[in-house]
Amino acid sequence: MSTDIDAVTSAFTDLVGRAPVGVWAAPGRVNLIGEHTDYNDGFVMPFALPQRVTMAAGHRDDDQWQVMTLDGDRIETFARAELQPGMAGWQAYVAGVIWALDEAGHQVSGADLVLTSDVPIGAGLSSSAALECATLAAVADLDDLEIKPMERARLARRAENAFVGAPTGQMDQAASTLCAAGHALFFDCRSFDFDQVPLDLAGAGLELLVLDTRTPHALVDSEYSARRDSCEAAAKILGVSALRDVSDVEHALDRLDDEEMRKRVRHVVTENQRVLDAKERLQAQDYRGLAPLLDASHASMRDDFEITVPTVDLAVETARTAGAYGARMTGGGFGGCIIALVDVGRSNEVAAAITQAFAAADFGVPAHFTAAPSDGARRLR
Ligand code: GLA
Repeated sequence: MSTDIDAVTSAFTDLVGRAPVGVWAAPGRVNLIGEHTDYNDGFVMPFALPQRVTMAAGHRDDDQWQVMTLDGDRIETFARAELQPGMAGWQAYVAGVIWALDEAGHQVSGADLVLTSDVPIGAGLSSSAALECATLAAVADLDDLEIKPMERARLARRAENAFVGAPTGQMDQAASTLCAAGHALFFDCRSFDFDQVPLDLAGAGLELLVLDTRTPHALVDSEYSARRDSCEAAAKILGVSALRDVSDVEHALDRLDDEEMRKRVRHVVTENQRVLDAKERLQAQDYRGLAPLLDASHASMRDDFEITVPTVDLAVETARTAGAYGARMTGGGFGGCIIALVDVGRSNEVAAAITQAFAAADFGVPAHFTAAPSDGARRLR
């Protein structure tokens, strides 16, 4: 089953008129636990999805980059001089990576890139990080640049932050680059140390349902920045370099007057602890033990960080009443996906219950799949 590999290879040959040098891919991710902790120097635990951006690439000799979708209906070309932060459109994720490599002193030469993706867009599953990390893998390998995996993830994030202009943390690009099949990635967003933690849900008779509420991400950019600003302001008042450093949450809350800020801090500090607890439970193969942590994470996002929306809350509640052991929203918030821990083979049933609840509430039709922890960015051919 390598249809995406064959598809980009033959599309490249048709569109460019010669065979590609190779084919690379980078996945989307789902975050098991640790939301809005990454830009607070905290901990996260995502895993890579099988859904990925697949990219065929070959050299050009005119110092330009041409990016094409499979059927050639979207073709964007840019020259080195056009690599300026603020570029609009989906090609900015590609151009941003080339810009970040260039800015870091790597010698990148022009290339043709043909891509396809099955990562749902706008669902909080890191379709943009997948595009950045696939581009980075392709372009770096084409020019034989020796860049270690974590440095690749850092450059891809730099593209997102400084070129595209989204003030995200390091989680998504780290996940898309570093994840390994069969494992969750425990990632320390301060030291960039990481552990691959075995995640054999099937072995425990369980599976993870990912349900996309298909709620448009209204306000996501401004609300994301507002949360980030609030965390940074709180850290300043508390005299720590990031909320990661708050160990005694009650003591910290006593020192803050603003109720909203207190809630934001409580989410981040307790969520960090939940990631550490989740890691321990995974290491003990206590997969059912994840469930209360997922539930507590959702409650914290809903009540303290205030980043959930009615569709997401309904999906989580319905998942639980339909038999999920635990459930939470995953990703940046204000829509997107939930995850639910269910007995193996029960995903469809739980998803059907949510679909029914959505219809009764006059919400749209959600989409769903069962997630298997997959590999990070790599060369496929
Ligand atoms: C988005 C960002 C990440 C992270 C999550 C929330 O996915 O890109 O850096 O902050 O939101 O956990």
